[in-house]
Amino acid sequence: MPGELAGASVLVIGAGGFIGGRLTERLVVECGARVRALVRAPMSAASVARFPVDIRIGDIANPPAVMAAARGCSHIFNCAKGTGPNAAKRRTVDVDAVRSVIEAARRASAMVVHVSTMAVYDRPFDGDFDETTRPAPRGDPYTDGKLDGERLAVELGARWAVPVVVVQPGVVYGPGAGVYGVDIIEELTNGGVVLVDGGRGICNAVYIDDLVSGLLLAAQRRDVAGERFLLSGPEYPTWRDFFESFERLLGTCRTVSLSRAEAHALWRRSRRRAWLAPVLWQALREDRALRRQLLATREGRLLRRLARWTLPKSLQLRLRQDRDLEVSHGRESPPVPLRPWVIDYVARRARARTDKARTLLGYAPAFTLEHGMQVTGQWARWVGLIPEPE
Ligand SMILES: NC(=O)c1ccc[n+]([C@@H]2O[C@H](COP(=O)([O-])OP(=O)(O)OC[C@H]3O[C@@H](n4cnc5c(N)ncnc54)[C@H](OP(=O)(O)O)[C@@H]3O)[C@@H](O)[C@H]2O)c1
Repeated sequence: MPGELAGASVLVIGAGGFIGGRLTERLVVECGARVRALVRAPMSAASVARFPVDIRIGDIANPPAVMAAARGCSHIFNCAKGTGPNAAKRRTVDVDAVRSVIEAARRASAMVVHVSTMAVYDRPFDGDFDETTRPAPRGDPYTDGKLDGERLAVELGARWAVPVVVVQPGVVYGPGAGVYGVDIIEELTNGGVVLVDGGRGICNAVYIDDLVSGLLLAAQRRDVAGERFLLSGPEYPTWRDFFESFERLLGTCRTVSLSRAEAHALWRRSRRRAWLAPVLWQALREDRALRRQLLATREGRLLRRLARWTLPKSLQLRLRQDRDLEVSHGRESPPVPLRPWVIDYVARRARARTDKARTLLGYAPAFTLEHGMQVTGQWARWVGLIPEPE
């Protein structure tokens, strides 16, 4: 898909990440673009350094670094995402830094493809949603930051006459995926994954190469400035379909179906474990040998008897609920608890319509979940994330 990107000078911010990395690769190999990659540290450039790319070390939150990187570029892709535990710092990347990206584009007369997320919409529980659906903050720093970031990008683009196109991907998976790849494999290997309401919610997954094709198409359409485009795959797999594909790759069965109420209860209990005593309790429960050893001592027996007589009924009940949940799912370690907003989010069965991207951009996603997971599995075996079949 070379088009107008052939020979163009293109800045990719966040080129060391999952999406920015694959985009950089295809810009160089497929489009023949001259790519400048803005990364925070040399290590982040390890993957894209395989290609003839002009690597610039800099922080998106540092305006002079962004201005310098954008100089002479006709296109800017913003694929950066705030990371780390500090919500204020993440917001600096997701929202505040957008101003310098658009300002840099204005100075360079470049157009901007800003990567947001499908999660900004207040999607209905059932049915379809599209770009006309009301966006809504949900009190979660990530999605709220993404919503404010895309609004700022469009607003400044209009004010400064900078063509800005916003793309809103669903769940992006494929070789190199973090949240919807490596993290899932680790969770399914080490513990379990909660499927809310049997995993009947629609995950709106999109394979990385379909998404990148959408980004490349968007970059060639200055005339659709100010528009938002939902980008999803060619079909509508459920969360169960999605996680079961990973289970098949791993040869495991570690998903746990919980009702929404149970999933919320698991979250509340996991919060309470922040205290020392519950953490000790957790360690005792997870290490069966240690537990047996300690409980077999004189003090251990005495403690058990004391606990039975003295613990408040509510605590006894909570401990029993924890144990019941684990027993009912036949595991020692409980599944990873989901945050309350995630529970609500994954329960929804709304399907993302991509008609606008198909009509205006010519977007045509091609990877079914089966095909995408086949390639993802090959990659996961190649990098040693999952064992080769016997
Ligand atoms: N993956 C998905 O399923 C998904 C779904 C919907 C939307 N999105 C959006 O797609 C975009 C890319 O996501 P991704 O999955 O590729 O994330 P990712 O793998 O975590 O990559 C994020 C990139 O942002 C860079 N970054 C973070 N802070 C930075 C800073 N201060 N200055 C410069 N760069 C910085 C990171 O640099 P380092 O390499 O140095 O850490 C990393 O390369 C994000 O906007 C995300 O919200 C992703």
